[in-house]
Amino acid sequence: MEKTYSLGSEGIQQESERLNLGIDLLNDIFQSLLPPEVEETQASASAVADVGTGTGVWLLHMRAAYPQITTMDGFDLSAEKYPALDTLPNGVRLHVHDVRTPFPAELHGKYDIVHTRLLMYALTAANWPPAIENLVSLLRPNGWLVCEDVGYQTWTSIPASEAYARFLRLDMAASEAAGRDLTFSHRFPSLFRSAGLQSRDERTYFSWDHPDLQESVTPLMMRLHESSMKGAIVRGGVEGLRNEDDVEEVMRPIRKQIQEGLRLGFGIRRVWGRKGG
Ligand SMILES: C[S@@+](CC[C@H](N)C(=O)[O-])C[C@H]1O[C@@H](n2cnc3c(N)ncnc32)[C@H](O)[C@@H]1O
Repeated sequence: MEKTYSLGSEGIQQESERLNLGIDLLNDIFQSLLPPEVEETQASASAVADVGTGTGVWLLHMRAAYPQITTMDGFDLSAEKYPALDTLPNGVRLHVHDVRTPFPAELHGKYDIVHTRLLMYALTAANWPPAIENLVSLLRPNGWLVCEDVGYQTWTSIPASEAYARFLRLDMAASEAAGRDLTFSHRFPSLFRSAGLQSRDERTYFSWDHPDLQESVTPLMMRLHESSMKGAIVRGGVEGLRNEDDVEEVMRPIRKQIQEGLRLGFGIRRVWGRKGG
């Protein structure tokens, strides 16, 4: 199957570091690891899965927050970012699996909560419906699917910046060329329903609500943007974004404006749905 994910080009160590920095920021923005409605029902939960788990960092936070959940399984296309498996806490196990393909039958119906986060650059428009069906196959009756993702519709600079708009234009063009849906997270409720879930609720959390985090948000977004553009050029790029020099030419004026006070911000959309009993 064609490789869609394009954020690995910065190198495994840098990508892992970025993801681990990202969780602290996202924990501060969400102020929770799970939607309150899911949290209320987790008292009886015993098994959780995180798909596209990266470094497994969300599961490690879950392990610390919910010691009574005894099975915590992470799945990713590649084990490259996994910590040494003998350093994992009790109950946490990490596996290799491509969410675009069905999970083994022995995992069907095993989990109370299935979680994904930050798969924006991982899946094409066509990949999402089978991926959601595969995620739903993991759920027990009454189990929850929780998907959390960022997207172009909420990426903004204050004040408005032509340099940042240029990045957005090129990155969106590269995403379209890769077959991604530019507003995919807005499809979650209908994809959940098509996969048989009751779509329960959704909320978008904004980094702008946390001025104290701004100093971390802007540099982290810049790292993400540089990584996605470098991933795009490996795939051949798009007009205006073909090589490292082009990436630098896009980034340089934004960096300069940041030194002069430009701030970047984002929203992350959390959508949750429940399987019938
Ligand atoms: C941006 S990272 C997010 C990692 C983690 N969810 C987090 O929030 O830190 C996206 C992850 O999805 C994984 N991925 C990409 N395509 C995938 C696929 N088809 N199936 C499973 N995992 C995939 C990548 O290897 C990468 O680790």
